[in-house]
Amino acid sequence: ISLKSYNTFGIDVNAHQFISVQNEEELLEILKRFYASELFVLGGGSNMLLTQNINKTVLHINLKGIEVIEDQEDHVLIKACAGENWHDFVDYCLDHNYGGLENLSLIPGNVGTSPIQNIGAYGVELKDVMAYCETINRQSLSRKRFYTKDCLFGYRDSIFKSKFKNQFIITSVVFKLSKNNHQLHIDYGSIKTELDAKGITSPTIQEVSKAVIAIRESKLPNPKEIGNSGSFFKNPILDHSSLNAIQNDYPDVPYYEIDENAVKIPAGWLIEKAGLKGYRKGDAGVHTKQALVLVNYGSASGKEIENVAKRVQKEVKRKFNIDLETEVNVF
Ligand code: EPU
Repeated sequence: ISLKSYNTFGIDVNAHQFISVQNEEELLEILKRFYASELFVLGGGSNMLLTQNINKTVLHINLKGIEVIEDQEDHVLIKACAGENWHDFVDYCLDHNYGGLENLSLIPGNVGTSPIQNIGAYGVELKDVMAYCETINRQSLSRKRFYTKDCLFGYRDSIFKSKFKNQFIITSVVFKLSKNNHQLHIDYGSIKTELDAKGITSPTIQEVSKAVIAIRESKLPNPKEIGNSGSFFKNPILDHSSLNAIQNDYPDVPYYEIDENAVKIPAGWLIEKAGLKGYRKGDAGVHTKQALVLVNYGSASGKEIENVAKRVQKEVKRKFNIDLETEVNVF
């Protein structure tokens, strides 16, 4: 079976076998039947680059369901199963006027993989809104709940990428969302500009979401039209002396202060200055509007995308002496 429609890069590789599970019983049955090493776990396929056929059984986590599990005066605890589409879930919450997810609108992928890389955008990260997630241990098949503090969340990072890599399957995520007095985060990036342009001074969460969607649509390619996995690289973290070195040549380099010792530089800016924004080889390329995103214009292979990624890393290394780390998982 072809995995083309199961990865947002739209890479056409085949899987030896494909099993989609709709509920926890089915999931447990498969986990009992196969050794962990025989399975390739697939969620929304929005953060992976497949460079070869998968000679394992693909286990597609398609658990569905959204449920308020605690309804308080000022907040709800709402549970979404792993196979729910992320943005559809955000929309569901906005329709019910539950606040907290609006800045994370339009992020591709599914709910179940959102904690793995601690998805984030426009000043909000998953860790700010998650209460806990429910998992199944792939070896013992026992259930384990991870509270936010247990997950070692960092910038695009969690315990599920490090110590517990490939050891747990996240079955659902529970979010703590506000019902009123929503805390808005509109200082980041161009959200304010976007709202100002519409004359909105005290926005609702729905209006913040619309602003985020407008910004994303203006620079990020829609995976339904052009295959991509969002940011391909992480924004590198540098010390002040490395920043100063760049500022000597480029006084206007954008950066975000992390603490007194570290800053984060947009990798997209570095790639653009290295001359690769819009670079294209065959059907693989660097997006024309946001250089941090690699794209598949149609029938690029995973290897061709990977080669563009390597080219990008090489040029940025040569020009700035910075190693770009991939954000996307390459298989
Ligand atoms: N920039 C350039 N050229 C480019 C791209 C960016 O000069 O080609 C400059 C922009 O002008 C701006 C700065 O870089 O000054 C930052 O750009 P942007 O606001 O687009 O954000 P980013 O740092 O490139 C990160 C996340 C995105 C997230 C946005 C907004 C990472 C790896 N990426 O991108 O996340 O949407 O901030 O919060 O941290 C994703 O992870 O897939 C993703 C899209």
